[in-house]
Amino acid sequence: MKILGIETSCDETAAAVVEDGIEIVSNVVASQIDIHSRYGGIVPEVASRQHLLTIIPVIDRAISEAGVTWQDIDGIAVTYGPGLAGSLLVGVNVAKAIALAKQLPITGVNHLEAHIYANWLSSSLDEESQVGFPCLCLIVSGGHSDLVLMKGHGQFEKLGRTRDDAAGEALDKAARILNLGYPGGPAIEQASSLGKPCLSLPRAWLKGSHDFSFSGLKTALWRLVQRDGISVADAAASFQLAVVDVLVTKTVKAARELQVKQILLSGGVAANKLLTERFLNSSQVPVFVPPPHLCTDNAAMVAACGYHHFQTGQISNYDLDVVPSLSLG
Ligand code: KG4
Ligand code: ZN
Repeated sequence: MKILGIETSCDETAAAVVEDGIEIVSNVVASQIDIHSRYGGIVPEVASRQHLLTIIPVIDRAISEAGVTWQDIDGIAVTYGPGLAGSLLVGVNVAKAIALAKQLPITGVNHLEAHIYANWLSSSLDEESQVGFPCLCLIVSGGHSDLVLMKGHGQFEKLGRTRDDAAGEALDKAARILNLGYPGGPAIEQASSLGKPCLSLPRAWLKGSHDFSFSGLKTALWRLVQRDGISVADAAASFQLAVVDVLVTKTVKAARELQVKQILLSGGVAANKLLTERFLNSSQVPVFVPPPHLCTDNAAMVAACGYHHFQTGQISNYDLDVVPSLSLG
């Protein structure tokens, strides 16, 4: 079954063709980073206008790079939330128009569920590695830091979330404080490689809860850099370590308590090398993490998730609408 995935929830216009939920046949991502970086962050109106300009060429490329025709496509999966309303609208409306014109079934996909399904794509899981349920999913992106128990395909129970900034958002804000540019996660990671995590920064453990909090850490960084003689690289490394420390410690503890079979990482922050290293070193159960290009926003993960929707008869109608504040579990 070949599914066309469409993703426009934030600042990447993406389309992909995926076979049977695991094999990437094509995966096209048009990033808007260069456009937004001059403003130091995403400008929603600019993002939706850019999606409008790019979406049709991106879909055409995904079909042609897959070496298929529309007759070979069995269904369309599109992100309908969470995300920026104006951005989501572009993907959902284009997907509905194509579904109607080509008489294809369509399924609306939760962007957070899609991030988790990046772990099923063939490049991340080899044939021997099978995801076993229940597993614990840590979704760490620009807008979310969610800890979700996955009991089976499509069965999610949210255990924890961020009470303020998401991990990616905290990294983006820290990079702005340190004048490292946008997006902040990769900039902090690069600056960290030149420094040492020698500066003392707080961790919000929120004991007895699976929730996260990163805004106090961001304020502490801001106070730290007011002092003279602080090295930007050391500040970046110390901040990165504080974020990673909390994410890893709390997730590994929850995995032990809940006796899950595996931990699945996903979302843009999961592209961070220190995060993966620390998880692999401290978890007693196997940890899966997609390759970096499948951690950040893409449409292959949307198509992989859509495959499972179609398998279980979750087909949307033409009244499918965007839900900017959609949550998972
Ligand atoms: O999942 P994603 O691409 O988009 C959203 O759904 O939000 O995540 C974007 C976030 C940004 O905050 C970005 O700074 C962060 O992921 N990120 C990283 C890395 N690459 C992207 N954070 C840490 N290390 C990275 N290598
Ligand atoms: Zn995302």
